[in-house]
Parts: sequence; C-alpha cells; structure tokens
Amino acid sequence: MADKIRISDVAKFDGQEVVVEGWLYNKRSSGKLHFLQVRDGSATIQCVVFQGEVEPSVFEDAAELGQESAIRLRGIVREDARSPLGFEIGVIDIEVVHQSESYPITPKEHGTAFLMDNRHLWLRSARQQAIMKVRSTIVKACRDYFDSNDFLLVDAPIFTPASCEGTSTLFETDYFDEKAYLTQSGQLYMEAAAMAFGKVYCFGPTFRAEKSKTRRHLTEFWMIEPEVAYMDLQGDMDLAEDFISFVVQRVLEERRTELESLERDIAPLERTLKPFPRISYSEAHEMLKAEGIAHTWGDDFGAEDETVLANKFDRPVIVHRYPAACKAFYMKADPENEKLALCMDVLAPEGYGEIIGGGQREDDLNTLQEKLSEHGLDAAPFEWFLDLRRYGSVPHAGFGLGIERTVAWLCGLPHVRETIAFPRLLQRLYP
Ligand code: 4AD
Ligand code: MG
Repeated sequence: MADKIRISDVAKFDGQEVVVEGWLYNKRSSGKLHFLQVRDGSATIQCVVFQGEVEPSVFEDAAELGQESAIRLRGIVREDARSPLGFEIGVIDIEVVHQSESYPITPKEHGTAFLMDNRHLWLRSARQQAIMKVRSTIVKACRDYFDSNDFLLVDAPIFTPASCEGTSTLFETDYFDEKAYLTQSGQLYMEAAAMAFGKVYCFGPTFRAEKSKTRRHLTEFWMIEPEVAYMDLQGDMDLAEDFISFVVQRVLEERRTELESLERDIAPLERTLKPFPRISYSEAHEMLKAEGIAHTWGDDFGAEDETVLANKFDRPVIVHRYPAACKAFYMKADPENEKLALCMDVLAPEGYGEIIGGGQREDDLNTLQEKLSEHGLDAAPFEWFLDLRRYGSVPHAGFGLGIERTVAWLCGLPHVRETIAFPRLLQRLYP
C-alpha cells in the first residue's frame, strides 16, 4: 500500500509510490500529457499524467477535471529541479472525489469586490495561503513569547458592561434586560489578572464600531495584550521591543518561502532588532513641523503623520508621552508634566502605522475616579476596576498588539482585509 502523504513532506518519499488527497489548482495539457497542479493545503505539486503510463479512463478523467475538483491521486515521487519543492509526481491513478465545474475564481485577474464576495473560495489561492500561514506563525510566535517568559494566559470576556477605549466605537447588544458591549480590549480585565498573577496576557477577538473606511481598520480584530504588575512605562517599552523583535525573527526563520512568494522585501524585516528608537510625542510633533506638515500639538497623529514619522527610522519606532487629552481615561499622568500620559505607541516601518498601543496605568483611586468623570464615564460599571486601586494597588503597565496590522506589515499588504480569513469591515458582513 502506498503511503498517504501531505505534499509538503514529499522530499521524504523520493522514488516511492504515494497517495495525495487534494484539489486541482490548475491544469495544462499538451497532446499525450496533462500537467496537474495539485494542492492539499500544505503545498502545491505538479502531477504529470502521461498517456502511455495510465489506463485510458484515467487519462480521460484528467482531461475532464475542472478547476478545484477534489481528487485522490496515486503516483511516484521523482526529482524535478524546476519545481519549487524539487519534486513532481508521475501519476499512476486518479480517483475523482468530486468534479467541480465553473469555479468562479479563474487564473485571470479579478476585482477586489468580487474576490471579497468569494472570500470563502479565495482562501484557496496561493497568495491567500501564504498570508494565512504567516498569520498562523505570527500568532504562535506571540503565544510562545509570553508562554516562555513566565506570563499566564488569562482569557478576557467578550460581553462587557463598560467601554475601555471610548464610547464612540462601542458595539451594543441586548443582554437579557441589560445592555452589554462587545469588548474593545481585554485590558481592564488583565489589570485585575495582573494583580492576581503578576504577569498575564490575553489573546482574543476585539470589536470596534469603526465608522471610517481605512486600510488599517477592521470592526473585528485580534489583539494580544500583556499586563505586568510592578512595571513602569520604561519596562513596557522594553517588553514591546523585545516581543516584536522575537516575533519578526521567528517569522523570518519559519516563513521565508511564503514571504518570498508574496514578494515581500526581507531586508527591512531583518533589521527589526532591538533596541528600537524612542521619541517623545513632542519630539515627533517637531519632526512633523520640520517636514512642513501642519500638525497641532495636542492632536493625535493621523495615518499620514505616522507614515512620515516611521520613514525617519529603519526599524519600528516607539513614540511615548502623548498628551493625556487625546488618550483613554486609564492612563497614568507623567509626574513631570501632568498634561502628558505615560503611554506609548509602536509605529511599524514602511507606512504600516501603529501596531502597538499601551502604557502605564493610573494606580491612584482618587485620580482614576476624576479621570472617569472627566471622560464623561459613569463610575458604576467600573466599580470592580476601581477596587484594584482600593486593595493593594501597584504601578503596572501593558500593551495591545493588533494581529492584523502586524500581518499586513510582515507580509507587505496594502490593506488589512487580506490579513484575516473572514474580515469584518464597515461595509462587509459576508461571507
Ligand atoms: O491602541 P489601542 O486602542 O490600545 C488598546 O486597546 C489598549 N487597551 C491595549 C492595552 O494596553 N492592553 O489598540 C491596540 C492595537 C493598535 O495598536 C492596533 O494594532 C490594533 O490594536 N487596533 C486595530 N486593528 C485593526 N482594526 C482596528 N479597528 C484596530 N484598532 C486597534
Ligand atoms: Mg492606539
């Protein structure tokens, strides 16, 4: 009996008879030969059907196969220097598991709207396969980093009674006789968990009713959020740069082939090593002014501003101490200038924008209560959060890394819509 193999393992079976279960990606025929590009999710391999080597019915079946037909194929693995895998398969037999007809995504060019409507099928394309594999490796690297640095995974809830990142982007839902909101961030819960376990992280989907159409915003995105007790802003920046360097180098080790197939320039990723440059918000503001960009001190940076700033550096840049007025309620004020928050953003190079937001949290009860009211937030749903400042409050800090923006950056994608299997956007809830 021939071994059933995954195509990516083909090199181990040189000269042997194997079975592959997959789908027909593409086909080319010439006279006595059919060249089938067969994919099984692990890789794609050329399978050659030679009229002189198979039953006539097999040769006819191969001629009839439509794109994305499901096939179980038996053949001999042989070296092929021209193949990216280094091997091809000489076909002995084909079982047609399902004949697919008129597959909508043909090898010709299609428009984005059409491809997005067919996202459930588009995932089978070589480009999407490469992106999803890089994403999977990024997620694994993120988890491995925190798991191997003594962080405890604590899952945050999805239904929440209060906002974390401002009320303008809340998704509201009925929760029996109450209102609940889909979580914007697990942070507040991680602060509780950090007081219980010291070093924690959560990783899950987060939701924001982003009403603007941009290349960087999804309404549902995944975020990994570490939180550490007895850590200050300095420690938070150290952690962020160590973490990002680790993730990028892991992706370069494990997904070089995929990055190359996406024609990603590897050089800027290879430079993504700590330490990262660190500049204050005020320094960043001066840099923009020097470039002739109209930016008002006090305003947050827009996407274009972030691109200009990032282009000044050869690796990610950390911008710290933004004006408190443009940031969330929970940030600790800088003791040296109360107008500033002890926060930081990490801006990715090459115009990919903010990938991390975080900082040191306000740990004083009275100050936090004042901040809530300044932000017009009712304290009642935050009473549990205020308890953290009543019982053993300590300096603490953390951050959130957006997975989709990280995927866009590492893969070199112009838009986040391709960074997640089924993106949720302002105007897209299908498929
Ligand atoms: O800067 P943000 O809003 O920070 C927080 O949510 C903090 N509570 C995190 C923390 O300190 N634990 O979001 C963090 C990151 C951003 O830098 C970005 O990468 C991503 O989440 N992000 C989005 N990604 C895709 N679509 C959106 N609408 C996003 N909003 C934020
Ligand atoms: Mg932010």
